[in-house]
Amino acid sequence: MEDKTKLIIDKDFRLADVDDRLYGSFIEHLGRAVYTGIYQPGHPSADEKGFRRDVLALVKELGIRIVRYPGGNFVSNFYWEDSVGPVNSRKKRLDLAWRTVESNEFGLGEFADWCRQADCEIMMALNLGTRGIADALNLLEYCNMDTPTYYADLRRQHGVDKPYGIKTWCLGNEMDGPWQTGHKTATAYGRLAAETAKAMKAMDDSLEFVVCGSSNVDMPSFPQWEASTLEEAYDYVDYISLHQYYGNREDDTADFLAKTQDLENFIHTVTATCDFVKAKKRSHKKMYLSFDEWNVWYHTTDADNGQMARQPWQHAPRLLEDIYTFEDALLNGLILITFLKHADRIKIACLAQLVNVIAPIMTDPRGGAFRQTIFYPFLHVSRYGRGTVLTPVISTGTHDTARHSRVTDIEAAVVHSGADGRVTIFAVNRNPVRDLTFEADLRSFTGYGVKEFLTLESSDMKLVNSATYSPVVPGNRTDFTMTDGIFTTTLKKYSWNVIVFRNRKESIT
Ligand code: AHR
Repeated sequence: MEDKTKLIIDKDFRLADVDDRLYGSFIEHLGRAVYTGIYQPGHPSADEKGFRRDVLALVKELGIRIVRYPGGNFVSNFYWEDSVGPVNSRKKRLDLAWRTVESNEFGLGEFADWCRQADCEIMMALNLGTRGIADALNLLEYCNMDTPTYYADLRRQHGVDKPYGIKTWCLGNEMDGPWQTGHKTATAYGRLAAETAKAMKAMDDSLEFVVCGSSNVDMPSFPQWEASTLEEAYDYVDYISLHQYYGNREDDTADFLAKTQDLENFIHTVTATCDFVKAKKRSHKKMYLSFDEWNVWYHTTDADNGQMARQPWQHAPRLLEDIYTFEDALLNGLILITFLKHADRIKIACLAQLVNVIAPIMTDPRGGAFRQTIFYPFLHVSRYGRGTVLTPVISTGTHDTARHSRVTDIEAAVVHSGADGRVTIFAVNRNPVRDLTFEADLRSFTGYGVKEFLTLESSDMKLVNSATYSPVVPGNRTDFTMTDGIFTTTLKKYSWNVIVFRNRKESIT
């Protein structure tokens, strides 16, 4: 058992540039994500369009760059035409995915306005459940075309002259899942996805497409689903989606935090499957990954299932309002580190979701908004994790947990920011019993010192934040040494750590 973890970091150990879309999120018409989440006319913080300014401020703080919309499972029976035009003539609809009523008071145009204010791009999901190519083409024309044609004219009649210019399109959602409205076999879905993308590219060949991979790694059809779907669609798509949610139903923190080992395997398998199809097709195109749903999700699942069964067809009920613990924040930090370690293949990732629904931001319809525990690792990685990922040489100890063996004690990723030369280490100590000595050798960054050392530390794994009390907030540490380019400190058992280095004239050491 090693008590010391050592990292060697070098400018030349470049893995890949981080795509800004790694810091994406997701708004689904589900629960209170939209209504009383991002949109609540009449709320004291609402602007003239009904957008909650308190929520917008937190979204901007997170530096979200792309937001997937409008689902999720919701999209598979979504009629986009119902969500545009004069609000009082919009149709109310049944949402079969979450057994609620969708008023369509907030729709595509409102979301585009909101994204403009939030400084993020739209990642638009298409309904390939109950609809298909024709409707996808109509939607694309409505959103992106400047032609004197029916749907582009309709958008103009709705008061929007300038096309929205949506670049990234999801070809349906979780089409492998039997729960999905319009669930399909891999081959049938692959054909539909290929033909939809092909037709949309005929309108604009600069568009990018995400084809549905498996809904999670435990699906019985994984990874054959990926192989069969890509056999059909490889030439027309740019990314394959991965979705994964984790839980700690066993109440075993050590094993919960080891779950990024499974995540590593998931990413490796999907990458290998993409490369297998590439080889089979003698293709020169590299398929990239879009991890467009990820988070912890389990706290409210049983209650939500009960609520949907017993009290269906409500408008914007409380659903999936997981309140996140300290250990959930650690797992999210580990997931973000894993994404950085695979930044050469993962170009898009969406924290699912953004507001109220399995979200870092929660609102009180009669009060303010607050930051959940999981807000912070995302904030830190989004703020300091832009630039080039450097792959450090790491030596660290390992431990075993109930369902995982040889789990690394410390997981870490390093990003070098070209713009200001900053180097940032993100690290989690997931050793279940001890604090660990942590040494980082920044040999090629001469003259660097520590600018900031942020942490999330707690001995209570179940600590949560709320509207009135937020004990889980980042702390600052100064108990480290930096001598001859070697940084040394102790990383606390079960902690999230962000160490920012800058040229010494701007550092605190
Ligand atoms: O994010 C919640 C749901 O999880 C989404 O609607 C679906 O795509 C996934 O199963």
